[in-house]
Amino acid sequence: MKICIVIGTRPEIIKMSPIIRACEKKHLDYLMIHTGQHYSYAMDKVFFKELNLPNAKYNLDIGSHSHGEQTGLMLEKIEKILFKEKPDLVLVLGDTNSVLAGTLASTKMHIKVGHIESGLRSYDRYMPEEQNRTVVDHLADYLFAPTENAKKILLGEGVPEGKIFVTGNTIVDAVFQNLEIAKKTVDILKKLNLEKQHYFTVTAHRPENVDRKEKLKGMLEGFEKIYAEFKMPLVFSIHPRTKKMIGEFNLKIPEGTISIEPVSYLEFLQLEANSRLILTDSGGIQEESCILKIPCVTLRENTERPETLTAGSNILAGTDPGRIFESVGKMVNAKKEWKNPFGDGNAATRIIEICEKIQQLQ
Ligand code: UD1
Ligand code: UDP
Repeated sequence: MKICIVIGTRPEIIKMSPIIRACEKKHLDYLMIHTGQHYSYAMDKVFFKELNLPNAKYNLDIGSHSHGEQTGLMLEKIEKILFKEKPDLVLVLGDTNSVLAGTLASTKMHIKVGHIESGLRSYDRYMPEEQNRTVVDHLADYLFAPTENAKKILLGEGVPEGKIFVTGNTIVDAVFQNLEIAKKTVDILKKLNLEKQHYFTVTAHRPENVDRKEKLKGMLEGFEKIYAEFKMPLVFSIHPRTKKMIGEFNLKIPEGTISIEPVSYLEFLQLEANSRLILTDSGGIQEESCILKIPCVTLRENTERPETLTAGSNILAGTDPGRIFESVGKMVNAKKEWKNPFGDGNAATRIIEICEKIQQLQ
């Protein structure tokens, strides 16, 4: 069986890393296509280096464009590679434009697609991710749902049960595989002069938040209020999109918020694991906070990770400064008794074994 893995952005590299490791361990015939959707060192190469991942066989160097142009350029180039490489199966993970392009190129060539992290829905079609994951779930041949809830969503949309496999999310594998290594190899708290449990970790990058001045301003005002009350610094890892928009809107980072360039995965894991609470609009970080038992306040009105709300690790706060402040008050002393709903850390092995079995049956 020849597998082709398509990746393109920071979260895909991190969440695919356990799959890549599983392929290496089993000496499978696989190759990787990197679309180059993310390309800055801190959003891309740092993860290959730190997580000791092999380089992609093909780097398409697509870079940043409008949605249509970016997806179209990827589609054209991926198709050419698939024609040459003729894989039996293409694996994609998540909901980015790279995932959409990888899936479209493959299905049109009648190459089987496995969608990892399938069945997530925010029911907010304004989000490019919701558009992408909905299309991909209905085109893919094998759907690797992280939870029973995700499976239920797919069944509700008419996806045949035989295509769905509940495997857990590979983010748990990534956290378990890297947390101990982080303890031994990096010290971001020392680097930033932070005290354990005495700071908040923050990220924001969703276009529906940061591309709108009022919402971005609202979040920054919320951070200011939090610092005024709790007197603990907020460490804000600034995504390149957010950096660009803060500049365009001429906004100021408030007192008490330490803005930093994106950091490596080991450093970010350590930052998350030692923080008092996490504020984010990221998908992966809502999951990681739940796995690491750090309370989370999500800077959105909805989430495609409702398992975190049910578990009690996360609440939705939107971008209104008063509501963000109140939400932190509610969560800051949360009892960390919840169970991680995203699996046991063996999702990648499970997914690869399912792919092997399916192949044997064909
Ligand atoms: C993309 C994904 C989003 C995912 C996020 C992870 C889509 C539609 N969006 O959003 O689902 O959560 O990645 O971080 O696929 N930029 C750089 N360097 C880079 C990459 C981007 O400077 O390496 C800047 C550029 O100004 C670019 C902007 O960030 O225009 C946005 O990048 P893009 O890949 O279009 O979307 P993300 O917001 O990163
Ligand atoms: N992350 C990182 N360094 C940072 C910020 C985030 O390594 O400075 C990791 C984080 O641990 C998580 C992933 O990036 O695994 C989340 O990516 P992002 O928020 O960009 O995308 P999303 O999950 O929302 O698609």
